[in-house]
Amino acid sequence: MNRSRLAGLALIAFAASCSSSESPDRASSATSTGALPCDVDAVLTRACRKCHATPPKFGAPMPLDTWGDLHAAARSDATQKVHQRVKARIHDPVSPMPQGDTLAASELATLDRWLDAGAPPRSNGETCAAADAGPAARVGPEHLPCPAAEQTTFRAHAAGAPDAPFAVPADSGNLYQCFTWKVPWTSETQATAFAPIIDDGRVVHHWILYSTATPQEEGGAGPCKMPFDATFLSGWAPGGGNRDMPPDVGLALPGAEPRWLILQLHYWNVAGYTDARDRSGVAMCTASGPTLRKHTAVVSTLGSLAIDLPPKSARVEVSGMCTPDTQQDLHVISAGPHMHELGASFKTEILRGGDPSKSEVLVDVPRWDFQSQALYPTDKIVRPGDKLRTTCTYANSTGQRVTFGERTEDEMCFNFVAVWPAPGLVNAGGKGALRCIDR
Ligand code: HEC
Repeated sequence: MNRSRLAGLALIAFAASCSSSESPDRASSATSTGALPCDVDAVLTRACRKCHATPPKFGAPMPLDTWGDLHAAARSDATQKVHQRVKARIHDPVSPMPQGDTLAASELATLDRWLDAGAPPRSNGETCAAADAGPAARVGPEHLPCPAAEQTTFRAHAAGAPDAPFAVPADSGNLYQCFTWKVPWTSETQATAFAPIIDDGRVVHHWILYSTATPQEEGGAGPCKMPFDATFLSGWAPGGGNRDMPPDVGLALPGAEPRWLILQLHYWNVAGYTDARDRSGVAMCTASGPTLRKHTAVVSTLGSLAIDLPPKSARVEVSGMCTPDTQQDLHVISAGPHMHELGASFKTEILRGGDPSKSEVLVDVPRWDFQSQALYPTDKIVRPGDKLRTTCTYANSTGQRVTFGERTEDEMCFNFVAVWPAPGLVNAGGKGALRCIDR
């Protein structure tokens, strides 16, 4: 496996904001027994500390900040040191660390060399170059291009109490919670920018904002029952930043016909915090009437419903072809692959002129991680005559046959792509929904 190539593709989310905003000077936080060597410190900052911070975030059980953190007893097994668990997990074929990302070959080599030497402290006299705080600092509603009074927000809340925080159960481990609203927009409205609101960052793992025509409870809060037609509008995962639409493009928000929004929060309280209270969610800037932007992007669905995975099958490919009905160029601004837990890899290619030998990658997720679904920005153009082929590869480790469906135990193979102009990618002869999928 080519690790550096994977690292390039495993980019999460919207902005190039994966660099850390942590304090560059780690020496001050080192224990009296030593500091971390500079090269090791840099890898941990780049690849681990957005979750393994002090305090840990996004469900991570422990910090990886100081030399002492790496020599503490492991949470999962007190007979081992954290650095021994690190050695195991960076090579773990099933649930490798870093989650949702990949170490470059050079980073892996740096960690291996150090771990194999017994994870020694920094040698006397070594001083580390200061890291660049980078754009990660500019995440959140305060960095949106519109003032707070003009932002529209949707946030997690307690059942029946729209302004009270959601109490994340201490024993919930891995929990999906959905919050639902009827859309507030009555005339044509576009989203021009999105920002994540991350409240109790210790337990928030990721969120996805969906739109649906299937009626939902206004102000509802409870377990997720995702309707079949739920379509990705936006999303956030650790490392992701604010998302600005291109300057002359707005993303169509559902408005005219009755529509609902579902904010799906994934909580990961493996550390068992008993005081986790969360109001995370999304803030957005919108345009309507005279401020509408020139181009309106819509979310189209690619993929396939023809999923049938035999029990205990190691590798099954499902592919869906979209033959867009268009006389004009279609501009793709983002792709949002979606499968469930049996997904192994995901790819959508543009076949130029419909020719399978002239394929260009639109999005490629060579190692699917259900826990880290993301939007991938792109600026590809689909021209008249092009087709789009989406390929989902699954490994069905269960003893059951698995088919298409919305329950977690079922599978999906969708790519939610934002495209302008409307109606986006629709099958030749296709009617109604904004889908371009095989049936
Ligand atoms: C996106 C967040 C995220 C990133 C980035 C991340 N981790 Fe984790 N890590 C987690 C979560 C969540 C868990 C707990 C669930 C699990 O064990 O899979 C975890 C667990 C671990 C464990 C197991 C601890 C134990 O007690 O057994 C180790 C070791 C670990 N991570 C090391 C790393 C290293 C090293 C990196 C960077 C190279 C890294 N992680 C990057 C989220 C992350």
